[in-house]
Amino acid sequence: MSDIILGIESSCDDTSAAVIGDGVLLSNVIASQKVHEAYGGVVPELASRAHQQNIVPVVSEALRQAGVDKKDLDAIAYTRGPGLLGSLHVGTSFAKGMAIGLGIPLLDVNHLHGHVLAHFIREKEDDPVPEFPYLCLLISGGNSQIVMVKSPMDMEILGQTIDDAAGEAFDKCAKVIGLPYPGGPHIDRLAAEGDPKRFRFSKPHIPGLDYSFSGLKTSFLYTLRDAIAENPGFIEENKADLCASLQATIIDILLDKLKKAIIQTGVKEVAIGGGVSANSGVREAVANLCGSLNVKPWIPARKFTTDNAAMVAIAGYYKYKVRDFGQLEAPPFARVVI
Ligand code: KG4
Repeated sequence: MSDIILGIESSCDDTSAAVIGDGVLLSNVIASQKVHEAYGGVVPELASRAHQQNIVPVVSEALRQAGVDKKDLDAIAYTRGPGLLGSLHVGTSFAKGMAIGLGIPLLDVNHLHGHVLAHFIREKEDDPVPEFPYLCLLISGGNSQIVMVKSPMDMEILGQTIDDAAGEAFDKCAKVIGLPYPGGPHIDRLAAEGDPKRFRFSKPHIPGLDYSFSGLKTSFLYTLRDAIAENPGFIEENKADLCASLQATIIDILLDKLKKAIIQTGVKEVAIGGGVSANSGVREAVANLCGSLNVKPWIPARKFTTDNAAMVAIAGYYKYKVRDFGQLEAPPFARVVI
């Protein structure tokens, strides 16, 4: 086996390590941090502390599961950003220390590239992958973008959110109706039992392919405020319908621009990626839209939608192929565009 790459991801609240060999995934270990649940959101200081505790066992376990000795590694890929700086520092420092110790190159990976390239994680050698160029709807807790993917290293953002990300819309609205953090998966579950047409929330009217979700959040809040004034038990009595209607509105907003982008670009394939691409409604709606426009949909396995090191390892693998190595002096970055 050649091109054995260790990937390390620590941009937010998941510590993850993965190993790929010859472009095929050998292991992908994720330690999620439960400590944040009590606070209704990720607490940066607690996240970095938990990364420090998790990183050594997670990397050891990834190597063990892959059946690879650290001396066999050819390079180490790590998430350089964007994300929480304190969290990124843990993965970055660890990756650099290990690369120096082993005398092998570093590969710095943009977390968003990782989400987009998650479709190239192959668990078997003959797993199919998208054909370039294609569009990727990248929807996560921090980003909502429509990306034209021309090659593994050449991507262009055609549209992106001007305020909140789709995941933030899910999480912030979930919080006001008393659901635990992160709220997206809870809304997904409750929406399955609710009526998506019961409530109407406002949709943005902005030009081009950009998104906006802050107005929806306000509209959701005002609906609740007015209804609770008349019936204090409103949220509890209507939770499933609220979730279904909110999810349907987010999907409408996402798909409206995605459809425009498909028609404008004439692409033949469309992928989705990022945490929100785990949403059942989003997955079904994108598959239906692609069916109606006769383009091929790429819906990722749920385990590769949220933060994971397999996507970092595969993004690093493409950099390794062209010897695009990272620098030891390169600091992590909190914010960036693709
Ligand atoms: O990609 P990700 O793990 O982190 C970032 O890189 O931002 O995405 C996390 C986001 C959270 O907002 C979470 O609520 C959302 O993904 N999410 C979902 C679902 N699963 C995760 N949103 C809606 N439905 C889901 N099933």
